[in-house]
Amino acid sequence: MDIRTALKLGIAQLRAANTPSDTLAAELLLLHATSRTRTSLYAHPEYALAESESQRYFSLIERRAAGVPTQHLTGKQEFWGLEFRVTPDVLIPRPETEHLIEVALDRLALRDLRRKESPNMSGEGLFIADVGTGSGCIAIALATELPAASIYALEVSPAALKVAEGNAVRLGVVDRIHFLESDLFSGLSTAGAGGVATLEGAGCLRQTRESRITNQGSVLFDLIVSNPPYVGRSEAAALAREVREHEPAIALFGGEEGYELYAELIAQSLAHLKPGGILILELGHNSRAAVEPLLDSPAWTNVRVTNDLAGIARVLSSEKACEFASNALL
Ligand SMILES: C[S@@+](CC[C@H](N)C(=O)[O-])C[C@H]1O[C@@H](n2cnc3c(N)ncnc32)[C@H](O)[C@@H]1O
Repeated sequence: MDIRTALKLGIAQLRAANTPSDTLAAELLLLHATSRTRTSLYAHPEYALAESESQRYFSLIERRAAGVPTQHLTGKQEFWGLEFRVTPDVLIPRPETEHLIEVALDRLALRDLRRKESPNMSGEGLFIADVGTGSGCIAIALATELPAASIYALEVSPAALKVAEGNAVRLGVVDRIHFLESDLFSGLSTAGAGGVATLEGAGCLRQTRESRITNQGSVLFDLIVSNPPYVGRSEAAALAREVREHEPAIALFGGEEGYELYAELIAQSLAHLKPGGILILELGHNSRAAVEPLLDSPAWTNVRVTNDLAGIARVLSSEKACEFASNALL
């Protein structure tokens, strides 16, 4: 069978099973089954598939039609221009999560401008945490953008942590990310980076390496980023089958309503940020109303909501007020 016919048949099979993005899925599975490039696929649609290629391709099409996500069949997903290995142990990185990286880079640059400091393009001296790292997509994207920053990737699932670490090795940034099994920030107190534990009188303009440790020996951050589980268990039945049946429940569900984890995440972030430090959270499609009020406190300033390309409030970001020294809260 030639490539063109195989592609058409695959698309038709997926369409009959009501598979979303049928054309793209069939194309990606054909590329995967034949190890060809997209260019060669379209430059030579007349090429005949080997019997083994054809078998591999149609078996992948069958599994996709039965609801297995394309990314679990190919084992990969692109995020921030980087290729991530994904398994059923991690959430498949979503394009809307790239807005978190944009907002993070934007807010760091703005803060430098406000402080009349020259832009810290390399991230030198910055401490960053990604809470719930999953595949590691956020931590690794930030590591590539800010090559001199120290990054902590925190994750409660040991299986996900392994995937994240593997991705960091493949993408050449494993030396700059600390991977920690941790329920929110709890794993950090045992992983203090050593150094001087003082925040007495620390103002926003005096946040140097000396003020990177809390009085309990844990790390203090310049930036905390998180895409926490935010789907409500009450919404589970409305999820697409490939999500509900194939992605890890711990990565999806934040509680019965979905937004339950944010209050604790925000409270712990406050305790783990330097004064003037930045918090960036991804929001579920309907979580803004429940989450934004949690930042309605003198402890937080410059609260901002950023919409995604679909116009949905997707990123909530804020800064810890300079008057709020963390050791007052611990
Ligand atoms: C929505 S996924 C995000 C994964 C990845 N950061 C991304 O954006 O694709 C949420 C992640 O948080 C992890 N997680 C859930 N509860 C957690 C907790 N209490 N502490 C740390 N990580 C948690 C899950 O295992 C999952 O990997």
